Amino acid sequence: MSQRVQFPRDFLWGAATSAYQIEGSPLADGAGPSIWQRFAHTPGMMSSGDTGDVACDHYRRWKSDVALMRELGLKAYRFSISWSRVLAQGRGRINALGLGFYDRLVDALLENGIEPLATLFHWDLPAALDDRGGWLNPDVAHWFADYADVMYKALDGRVRKWATLNEPWVVTDGGYLHGALAPGHRNRYEAPIASHHLLRAHGAAVQAYRATGKHAIGLVVNLEPKYAASQSAEDQAAVRRADAYMNRQYLDPVYRGAYPEEMREIFGDAWPDWPQADFDLIRQPTDFLGVNYYTRNVTRHDAGNYPLKTAPVRQHATYTETGWEVFPQGLTDTLTWVRDRYGNPPVYITENGSAFYDPPVAEDGVLDDPLRVNYQKKHIVAVSNAIASGCDVRGYMAWSLLDNLEWSLGFSKRFGIVHVDFATQQRTIKASGRHYASVIASNGDVLNSGRQAEG
Ligand code: BGC
Repeated sequence: MSQRVQFPRDFLWGAATSAYQIEGSPLADGAGPSIWQRFAHTPGMMSSGDTGDVACDHYRRWKSDVALMRELGLKAYRFSISWSRVLAQGRGRINALGLGFYDRLVDALLENGIEPLATLFHWDLPAALDDRGGWLNPDVAHWFADYADVMYKALDGRVRKWATLNEPWVVTDGGYLHGALAPGHRNRYEAPIASHHLLRAHGAAVQAYRATGKHAIGLVVNLEPKYAASQSAEDQAAVRRADAYMNRQYLDPVYRGAYPEEMREIFGDAWPDWPQADFDLIRQPTDFLGVNYYTRNVTRHDAGNYPLKTAPVRQHATYTETGWEVFPQGLTDTLTWVRDRYGNPPVYITENGSAFYDPPVAEDGVLDDPLRVNYQKKHIVAVSNAIASGCDVRGYMAWSLLDNLEWSLGFSKRFGIVHVDFATQQRTIKASGRHYASVIASNGDVLNSGRQAEG
């Protein structure tokens, strides 16, 4: 398609990170441990024994990191707040020093003309709350809303865009069904309960925001469009289950007040009946939707793969280092699907990016990452195509500002547009970072040069 790449004048270009992945110093200044602190220190859970003890040392280097954001010309920065820095026990007494870190960060961003987007929960649940059942305890919705309220009171006005949860699907699937992520449970009875309480927590935090906040709040989900491997009835049913599980499980309750009917088929007797009042809580009107997009999935029926009974089908395509197919059209398809199914809400792409092998930084300080540059270009064009077809997309955040701790995969997978040498903490802007800076400076127009020649 040789449609002209165009973005609205006030389009919000930014980059994203999360607390445990970059901050380091997880127990500094009176912070309590999170479940990721515990998980990372449990032998065998992390690739190469990596932990977030130092990570990008952002907790101490935040000033120079904000300068780096300014150098890139970012208009926005999406970060997450570590709940157990602010409330060491997850509830009760506020840890002023922990809160002070975010307070100063937000001020520095604003002084540099960068809009802060704050995520209240990016997976690092306070360990003290996990000891009380964590996402399996119904009270977690109120614990979360109380914590959210502390943050609104401290920062709303300076922070004008809030995300409640980052990717509830990953929390449940990785943390409660397959165990690859904290808290590392593998239990099909727990997974639906954790999901439901995550959604209730989202609803309770939105409700609390309406009492205090004056700006905007929304949920961040990871969406991965599913395409059937064949026209067979089995594969068609498989793709519906996969889509319900990953995509509609969270958005249907929030926008339509009910779970997709496939959920019972997937979980069988492990799928509870939930009271209607819960859906009234979950279905709070929100101001925007955050969409994280990385890849698609071509899906076939596979009876042996419990509980979904689906399997991915590998394509003749480029795959990233995390084994994800590069499929930019999937981002356009996802955005038009959101437009049609959920009434065209304002959308921010809150994450999009790729892990590829990076060569060492050359002596002249250059780091060429052509595969990441290519991924970035094509996905930004995909966003522009969605906007041209009427999707209300208002911003794009590159994942990630910095190479960082890729959860249980440790530091081996690099998603940054800025390279981090973890031995020296030296930051080097990659070619993808330089390219992204030119996209921002031209509001996307740079992507039109050379496109005619490409046809
Ligand atoms: C998460 C990030 C993660 C990225 C790449 C998203 O699922 O929000 O924390 O690093 O994808 O895997």
